[in-house]
Amino acid sequence: MPERIKIGYLGVGRYLPSNVLTNAHLEKMVDTSDEWIVQRTGIRTRRIMSPGESVVSMATAAARAALEHAGIEASRISCIRAGVNTHLRFPSLAALVQEELGIPAISASDISAGCSGFIFSVEEIYNRMFTDWILTGQTSYGLAIGVDGLSLVADYSDRSTCVLFGDGAGAAVVGPVESGEILATYTRSEGRYADLLYLDEILSVPLEDTEAMRFKLHNGIPYPFLRMAGPKVFVVAVRSMISDIKAVIDRYNQLSDSPLNVSDIEYVIPHQANLRIVTAVGEGLNLTPDQVYSDGIVNYGNTSAASIPIAYVEQWARRPGALEADVAFGAGFASGAILRRAPNR
Ligand code: COA
Repeated sequence: MPERIKIGYLGVGRYLPSNVLTNAHLEKMVDTSDEWIVQRTGIRTRRIMSPGESVVSMATAAARAALEHAGIEASRISCIRAGVNTHLRFPSLAALVQEELGIPAISASDISAGCSGFIFSVEEIYNRMFTDWILTGQTSYGLAIGVDGLSLVADYSDRSTCVLFGDGAGAAVVGPVESGEILATYTRSEGRYADLLYLDEILSVPLEDTEAMRFKLHNGIPYPFLRMAGPKVFVVAVRSMISDIKAVIDRYNQLSDSPLNVSDIEYVIPHQANLRIVTAVGEGLNLTPDQVYSDGIVNYGNTSAASIPIAYVEQWARRPGALEADVAFGAGFASGAILRRAPNR
């Protein structure tokens, strides 16, 4: 097989709102307790947007931080993909970030893939760069964003969901690298599970029935509520993330003449949905607790499409050259994984 170009992350960045929502705050809003939340989810605090902050402002801040970390001028970005579920309007969030960064005409669009949107975004950019390189011999830079403001759609009268979610954004500059190569990506969706995790449709009730038409406003914009059958989602989430790690290894082995095993993976960053889910994924892969990232769920709750790139900032170059995997799961049920080497710097 000919030597192929190495594509990976040149830099990463994130943005977390400064407003902290603690379990003590939630005890005053719904019938819950710090003890229940910590035992059943592991979450202690989450960050919540203030008026004036938005998914666009968070994504822009994370993108700027990633560009600065990478040492790449915004003008060199040729493509933006943004995994996001809470930018419920057009033009796309990616196009608005492009404008904020002052980048002229490029390919910029959003990806709706639940909490797995960042993985889908990286996969698209990665495939695009390979295609460009094969067809033209040229390399370029892309910006993958994962951002969500789940506080916008959380129903703070529903204790079974509202305790889980937080807001935040993460971004990665993708391009040719010397270390930290992405080895393979894998994504899939299973629409048959659509009724287990979804957003209400504001206009699904008669217009005159304002009582049934429940939504809330942020910066003057209406948002519908998130609905979830938590325990059912839990079971499929664990099963999917374990099988997606195996699938991304299989995908790599189809393309490589030096095959890898799941047991070769040294560290996993799973989507931060619930500490019990994260722990079960690690156990299912025979990893020790220190081989599985879990600080995000404790400190920031479930930040949906942002949880993996938020973790990247803390984990950057901690284990130079190590074989690592990221795996996510969310509405759709869209899930997927990235297999990569950790960067050296
Ligand atoms: N505080 C106190 N009690 C709560 C509560 C809360 N915040 N939320 C639910 N309960 C109660 C329930 O009403 C139920 O009481 P009952 O037995 O009297 O009916 C009891 O706790 C157990 O509820 P259950 O839903 O079975 O709890 P659980 O252990 O499955 O935990 C979740 C609920 C939502 C935390 C858990 O199922 C989960 O994390 N699911 C996955 C969610 C997820 O990650 N979604 C996003 C995927 S990207």
